[in-house]
Amino acid sequence: MAEPLLDVKNLQFRFRGQDQDVVQDVSFRVGRNETLCIVGESGCGKSVTALALMGLLPKDDVRFGGGEVRFDGESFAPSDQGRIAQMRGDRMAMIFQEPMTSLNPAFRIGDQIAEAVERHRQCGRAAARARALEMLAKVGIPAPEQRLDEYPHQLSGGMRQRVMIAMALANDPELLIADEPTTALDVTVQAQILDLIAELQAETGMGTIMITHDLGVVAEIATDVAVMYAGQVVEYGPAEAIFNDPQHPYTIGLMASVPTLTGPRRRLSTVPGSVPSIGQMPEGCRFSSRCPFAAPVCGTRPPLRDITPGHRAACHFAPLELHLERSA
Ligand SMILES: Nc1ncnc2c1ncn2[C@@H]1O[C@H](COP(=O)(O)OP(=O)(O)OP(=O)(O)O)[C@@H](O)[C@H]1O
Ligand code: SF4
Ligand SMILES: [Mg+2]
Repeated sequence: MAEPLLDVKNLQFRFRGQDQDVVQDVSFRVGRNETLCIVGESGCGKSVTALALMGLLPKDDVRFGGGEVRFDGESFAPSDQGRIAQMRGDRMAMIFQEPMTSLNPAFRIGDQIAEAVERHRQCGRAAARARALEMLAKVGIPAPEQRLDEYPHQLSGGMRQRVMIAMALANDPELLIADEPTTALDVTVQAQILDLIAELQAETGMGTIMITHDLGVVAEIATDVAVMYAGQVVEYGPAEAIFNDPQHPYTIGLMASVPTLTGPRRRLSTVPGSVPSIGQMPEGCRFSSRCPFAAPVCGTRPPLRDITPGHRAACHFAPLELHLERSA
């Protein structure tokens, strides 16, 4: 099998002062032209996973376990955040959950994009500014020449998110990580932004990791899905398999609220109870405190294993149908 663009193996780390891993044995792959959606409740480790892949975790505050991040065939130790950040250059880009945290309110947006372009391409200011203009037009910002000279506060939330996308994509990254890029936006703007990312992906063949709470979005854009619970990937596979044949009790709980493709969008999280905090995770299966099928064997950790080729779940009883039939 051809080497994927990004191959994450057993990513594992905790923050200083924590006695359990906040991200544990997380593995997934993303190929060119593919979109991996990462879903899971608030606090399950989606954003910190993304930050680790960008080399943005402050290494003094984080203790890494083993694991490996391979990007385009080159291997990195996750603990070497500096080297990952250096390699990332303009090859990987991220759209952050909150656009205002990554736009500097004191600088005109055209200058901010041009600066990112200049830094990575080592071109002159005029060429960088021309690229900034081109990108603003591409992300659908009306009157882009005028907008170049405006400050972030002069733009609406939707326009700011477009600026973030323009900035992230200005250097034609091979991998885009989008962390809830549309959560703060109204539904129409959400749809436009997703269309835009899809369009740019079709044009450049970039791989995309989309972090979202919205299963409607996942149904629309994912080629693959990783379901995270309490810092672990509990189910992983092609989108079709996850939607049509979910195998982990947590995924099944989430899917209970799945909208139809044509119905209204709903956010996930209808599983009763809440995620235990770090330091209070049960031994063995971290989902056991909320799982309707929990049994003594769940006191040992279920490995993420193939249920059908390429469709993996971390549950002792998967495939569940089989188990339920046997115990009937
Ligand atoms: N710098 C930090 N120091 C200590 N703990 C942290 C730090 N950053 C994040 N965490 C903790 O790590 C866990 C995972 O956080 P993360 O932001 O990745 O969640 P998330 O899945 O992105 O949630 P959301 O859907 O709300 O964005 C949380 O318990 C969070 O409190
Ligand atoms: S391993 Fe046990 S507790 Fe965990 S999801 Fe499966 S049945 Fe539930
Ligand atoms: Mg987050």
